[in-house]
Amino acid sequence: MKPVKVGLLGLGTVGGGTATVLKRNAEEIARRAGRGIEIDFIATLEPERAPELGVENIRLTKDAYEVVNDPDIDIIVELIGGYSPAKELVLQALENGKHVVTANKALIAMHGGEIFAKAQEKGLVVAFEAGVAGGIPIIKSLREGLAANSVEWLAGIINGTGNYILSEMREKGRDFEDVLAEAQELGYAEADPTFDVEGIDAAHKLCILSSIAFGIPLQFDKTYTEGISKVSQEDVAYAEELGYRIKHLGIARRTDSGIEQRVHPTLIPKSRLIANVNGVMNAVLVNGDAVGATLYYGAGAGDEATASAVIADIVDVTRTLTTDPENRVPHLAFQPDELSNTPVLGMDDVETAFYLRLSAKNEAGVLADVTRILGDQNISIKAFIQKEPRHSEEMVDIILLTHRVNEGNMNKALAQIDTLDVIDDVTRIRVEALS
Ligand code: HSE
Repeated sequence: MKPVKVGLLGLGTVGGGTATVLKRNAEEIARRAGRGIEIDFIATLEPERAPELGVENIRLTKDAYEVVNDPDIDIIVELIGGYSPAKELVLQALENGKHVVTANKALIAMHGGEIFAKAQEKGLVVAFEAGVAGGIPIIKSLREGLAANSVEWLAGIINGTGNYILSEMREKGRDFEDVLAEAQELGYAEADPTFDVEGIDAAHKLCILSSIAFGIPLQFDKTYTEGISKVSQEDVAYAEELGYRIKHLGIARRTDSGIEQRVHPTLIPKSRLIANVNGVMNAVLVNGDAVGATLYYGAGAGDEATASAVIADIVDVTRTLTTDPENRVPHLAFQPDELSNTPVLGMDDVETAFYLRLSAKNEAGVLADVTRILGDQNISIKAFIQKEPRHSEEMVDIILLTHRVNEGNMNKALAQIDTLDVIDDVTRIRVEALS
């Protein structure tokens, strides 16, 4: 059978990795796919870099539409990233009858509904494994391997750059900016690194996971998003002392009133396997009613690791070229007309435990005031640390761990604590047992 012709949009870190792995493992990949897979045409703004990425004897252009409109191309692999022109190119590829593979989580999270509807109408596949957790086959696992389960919750370290920064801060006491610069050099960080440190990249990925886990439409705008830029060395150290570690988690949970969909720094017990996932590695913990807890671990970014997921999708698409469009795995795991309207909850309705660090005046009655306010909101304290003053004789750190509480109640308590003259500053970080 004649080889499948792939058109690559973008020849950066992941594009280069895809070309390299496809070439190196061509024979085995063909044995798996049932026919050869060849990159036939590449759009790149830096064609002069092609030889250094091992790309030779392949047509190159600076105009991505030339690739998308080329009648010889069967599958478009979109590795440009970002919302535009990626969206227009993907829609044009579908219009032209081409299947699409993408690593673009921003595109899927934001415009997946429209793109999948177009693909459905045309009987085409849009595959996006590489968009979430790099090389970890989490989309395939959730969509196919866990299809028997009612997923109860999932929690993931789904941004390698953020995890690398938090790991280096904890292990080596390194500076936030310094570690971020290194992650950028290594090609892990997004083009706009605020997407990594402010949690937007993780929120894109979580919104996709949540949709696939619970059979709800993609709702990026309803994903609560908080980054790691305010996590301090003090909090990292206090968490450690309390038996916890701070991880930047994406959490999606089914509750009686709706779906929690949130990304934020989280204290988790040190003893959990996922608490020991360090550096650029990603991990996703999925709890299904039948299977119980399952953990998926691997490289969340990087050239060949992400290429592994891109190529797996190309192989999947190649195999489906001869199958009936009605009998393919649905894009969002559930049949498109079976997506549910279960609401995504606002943060006031989320229930979680809290770590609070209060910078307080070192004088009589402060603790009584704070605990009275918490008690009034029915917030019960689980653990407590107060050290001798460090910075000045006047101020002292008070660290509290609470039991689970409705976040709305915590917000009311914090608003009242804020009015106390004796409290300078409050840091709050959510706590999850993940059990
Ligand atoms: N910037 C992303 C990360 C790359 O650090 O995880 C992979 O999506």
